[in-house]
Amino acid sequence: MATTAAAMAATSVVVLDRGNNTTCTINLHGATVVSWRVNNQEQLFVSKLASFDGKKAIRGGIPFVFPQFGAWSFGPQHGFARITRWHLERPPDRLHNGDVEAIFSLMDNDFTRSIWNYQFRITYRLILREKELHFHIGVYNPSKELSFTFNMLLHTYLKVPDVRRCQITGLQGCHFIDKTRENALYQEGREVVTVNEWTDRIYQHTPQEHVITNVVSGRKMRLHKYNFPDTVIWNPWVDRSREMSDFGDDEFPNMLCVEAGNVTSPVILLPGTAFEASQILQQFKCPYTIDPSSCRKKNYLTNFLQYD
Ligand code: BG6
Repeated sequence: MATTAAAMAATSVVVLDRGNNTTCTINLHGATVVSWRVNNQEQLFVSKLASFDGKKAIRGGIPFVFPQFGAWSFGPQHGFARITRWHLERPPDRLHNGDVEAIFSLMDNDFTRSIWNYQFRITYRLILREKELHFHIGVYNPSKELSFTFNMLLHTYLKVPDVRRCQITGLQGCHFIDKTRENALYQEGREVVTVNEWTDRIYQHTPQEHVITNVVSGRKMRLHKYNFPDTVIWNPWVDRSREMSDFGDDEFPNMLCVEAGNVTSPVILLPGTAFEASQILQQFKCPYTIDPSSCRKKNYLTNFLQYD
């Protein structure tokens, strides 16, 4: 593709275009995926009141939560990665099979060290396929002495016609922390989870796959994850929607957050070591299985990460 890194550096938005009206748009503010269209159908919810001022986190799409999930005594809620401008490491490039990939990166700077005094490097590789979006993340600790711990989460806002009609699989038997009930711990008994009220739950040790039904245009969304042991389910419902200045009061029926991450047990990264995790979102109509090797491939980091 013709776009060069220099040209892109001047903009704040990067577009992966696979043809056939299938695109993915990433805002460098937080490396937030702000749009994913499959055959011209938007898959992600972004609030009509979302702020794009380069300061606040973007309300919708897929914000990147790091190094903290939730409230943080040292810095902003959900960490600084979603409110920091990322670097475009590799502009969109078409692969031999027609897929399009781009790589983003974030490393420590004066701002991040003023909050959290550690050196780190994150590489975030996105691949747009026909009906799939792949996310491969690498975190590297370049320090010779210091370890650090972190949370990480992809805060995916799915666009749905009516959240009350969505079912989420893969949570039965899992324990969850219910943030709407003073963080009490429960066990999920339902085969499929539905959302009919304010919901804010951290499901622990969830399986690698969830299917969410009745997403946009009556299709299903498969969320496949590797090295993300927790799944957060969130919808603010009526009262909490009113409390958010960047979220419309009437928007909650049209979104469902299904967030894969490392939340309840932070990751410990020793000096000189790397962590990797990945997610695949796949829109589908009829039963179809992802080849798990594309998600688990051990050495994908070596293909694109350049460590000193
Ligand atoms: C979810 C949390 O991941 O994000 C909720 O579980 C939180 O507790 C929600 O309200 C949105 O957070 P924020 O900081 O984007 O308003």
